[in-house]
Parts: sequence; structure tokens; C-alpha cells
Amino acid sequence: MKKKVALIFGVTGQDGSYLSKFLLKKNYLVFGVKRRNSSVVTSRLDEIYLEPHEASNFKMYYGDLSDYSSIYEIIKKINPHEIYNLAAQSHVAISFQIPNYTMDINALGATRILEAIKNLKLKCKFYQAGSSEMFGDVLEVPQNEKTPFNPVSPYAVSKVSAHWTTICYREAYKIFASNGILFNHESPLRGENFVTRKIVRALVRIKRNKQKKLYLGNLYAKRDWGHAQDYVEAQWLILQAKKPGDYVISTGKQYSIKQFVNIVCKQLKINITWKGKGIKTVAYLKNNNGKKRIIISCDKRYFRPHDVNSLIGDCNKARKELKWKPKISLNMMIKEMIDFEIKNLNKI
Ligand code: NAP
Ligand code: GDD
Repeated sequence: MKKKVALIFGVTGQDGSYLSKFLLKKNYLVFGVKRRNSSVVTSRLDEIYLEPHEASNFKMYYGDLSDYSSIYEIIKKINPHEIYNLAAQSHVAISFQIPNYTMDINALGATRILEAIKNLKLKCKFYQAGSSEMFGDVLEVPQNEKTPFNPVSPYAVSKVSAHWTTICYREAYKIFASNGILFNHESPLRGENFVTRKIVRALVRIKRNKQKKLYLGNLYAKRDWGHAQDYVEAQWLILQAKKPGDYVISTGKQYSIKQFVNIVCKQLKINITWKGKGIKTVAYLKNNNGKKRIIISCDKRYFRPHDVNSLIGDCNKARKELKWKPKISLNMMIKEMIDFEIKNLNKI
């Protein structure tokens, strides 16, 4: 039987890596699009990117979401059954510093892929990586597919635009185009400047005396955190549905950043005490001689002009229609992230 062909924009990212491995296991031929960087960083794909290009079921091409011609040519050459658009300037805080770029890549980037599919008259299916961040200052608790969007960052606005463009092309041109509305999902492969990886990495290093302090921003924001491995399965299931549609993917549980820190500390057997309020909150350790040492403080640098304070998803539609549910608990995920950081430290 001929292999199914998938094309992934954003293949070098956290989800791109998990999705590639997931699709290879399902016997797909996987093509990834990688943008040019000054250093070649494909570390998240090392396990699958080692074989000779021609013989491998995983191949990469250079392209960029800012460049329509590269997108058009790659899609034309590969003629995929499924396209996953995971590429984005995905950091919410940074989107306040580079709003034009964020709009160009996240909003127009999705439009460029959809235009190429339309212009090439392809029958392929399209997945757009939407975000719970689109709910912003939430208008309903928990959030589901019917909850109105209320975005509060350039990142969120760009994702709302891509979301509606995907629906527009589905309805106007009958393209099988679907949106995932994914809540936060993490893993050992998470970017180092997202809060979960930053916390786990720092606390492992503090435990080993390789770092003195961890500086954070808003400790009171609450997120609904799942594992990337579970969430890429949902991305695939969304494209296997009979009809295109939009799906919330979440765990339905939420924790604050402070609670996340507490769970990591518990697993690492770091005994901290919290003190103070707001930006003056600190966490300290007591030494054997009774002296206190502050290991966590807040720093203005990590606060956003406008933060999303509370997100919690209702994924009943995905549970019912896609038979999807999260399998990896927050505690299991944190353990995996801790083990990964310890392994990294031991390599040095
Ligand atoms: P990520 O690790 O930041 O990966 C983003 C990917 O996009 C990387 O491969 C990156 O390439 C690529 N990219 C950035 N700019 C590009 C450009 N101009 N042209 C082509 N590729 C470009 O993000 P992730 O966590 O895997 O998330 C995947 C997608 O889901 C993103 O769209 C994100 O916004 C969305 N999302 C994520 C979450 C989450 O919690 N993880 C939740 C909801 C939605 P480089 O490696 O070269 O940087
Ligand atoms: N990054 C970061 N760094 N966030 C911090 C810090 C810090 O030092 N201190 C506190 N936070 C708070 C942020 O203010 C935010 O409320 C929360 O931790 C989570 O921040 P991130 O991990 O950066 O994730 P995010 O929720 O802003 O965005 C992620 O999830 C979205 C889905 O809701 C990204 O993956 C987005 O691409 C994704 O769409």
C-alpha cells in the first residue's frame, strides 16, 4: 500500500518533533519544513534525521512562512495528503516586542499555506495550530469551542486571525481545513524560555549547586498543562475526522505557576518556604545552620504588558468525536522533565 504523505511546517519545534515521530510510527512519509538559521539546530529531531535523505521516511526542506514562493514550491513538489501548520513565533511575551513579525508569520503564514493549497487545487487536509491564548481575558469558564475569543497579546490576535482564515478557506473553497485550539502542552523538548522548562531546568541546577537563583514573573497565572506527546495525537485525529472542524484540546485541570514550582520542588525534595506578595514574593531554603537563602524571586523583566490570568479547557467535543483523551498526568510529565534535565547535567 502507498504510504500517506504528511508535510509539517514548524518541524524543528517541540510539537514538530513529537508529531514527526508519531507519524513515522503510523508508517507515513514525513516531510518537514525548516527555516534558515545561522546555526543548524535540529537537535529535537536527531533520532530520526540521521539516515541518508533518499532512503529515509523523514526528509527536510528549507522554507519560510514569510516566503510564499517557498511554501508554494514545496507543497507542489510533495503533493501531501496532510499539512500541519505548527510554525509560529510562539512566545507570547516576545510577541509584544516583535508584533509585526508575529503577525506576519502566524497570521499571514497560515494564509500563505491556504492560498498555495487553493491555487494548486489540492485535495490535501490542513491543520492549523490554534491556541487557548485566543480566549485571553476569558469570557467563560471552562473554555470550549463556542467560547468567544478575547485576545490580549499580539500573539493571540495573530492566532485568532489564522483561526478565522482557516474557517474562511474551509467554507469558501471547500478545503478540509481544521483548527486545533490547544491549551498549554509541555515536555522535555519545550523551549527553554517557556515557564515549565525554565522552572524545572533551574531547580535541577539549583539542587546540584550549578545555579544560585531562579527569576520568574507572574506566579499567580493559572494554566491547563498537558503533555505534547498526547497533544500531537489529537492533531492527527483532528485530520482523521469525517468532516473538518475546530476542537479544544485540554486536560480540564489548572494549576498556578506557584503550584507548579511546588510540585517540582516536592519531586526534587527541595524544601522551600514562600514569603511576600505580588512582585515581592520570594521562596527561600533554610540551611542546616538555620540561615535562609532566597532561591526564587520575581523580576519585572518577566511580567507582560497584559497577561492571561486563568485558562482551563473543556475538551468534551474531542473526547466524544475523536475519542481523544490525555494520558500523561502533570506529575508524570514533571518527572520526565526532571529526569531529562538531570541526564543533560550529567553529560557536562
Ligand atoms: P515551538 O517549539 O516554538 O516551534 C515553532 C516552530 O515554528 C519551530 O520549528 C520554528 O523554527 C518554526 N518557525 C518559526 N518561525 C518560522 C518561520 N518564519 N518559517 C518557518 N518556520 C518557522 O512551538 P511548539 O510549542 O512546538 O508549538 C507548535 C505550534 O502550536 C505553534 O504554532 C504554537 O504557536 C502552537 N501552540 C503551542 C502550544 C503549546 O503549549 N506548546 C499551545 C497552543 C498552540 P525554529 O526551530 O527555526 O525556531
Ligand atoms: N515564559 C515565562 N517566563 N512565563 C512566565 C514566567 C517566566 O519567567 N514567570 C511567570 N510566567 C507566566 C506567564 O506570565 C504566563 O502567565 C505563564 O507563566 C505561562 O507562560 P509561558 O510558559 O510562556 O506560556 P504561555 O501560556 O504564555 O504560552 C504558551 O501556551 C500557549 C497556549 O495557551 C505558548 O506555548 C503559546 O505558543 C501557546 O499558544
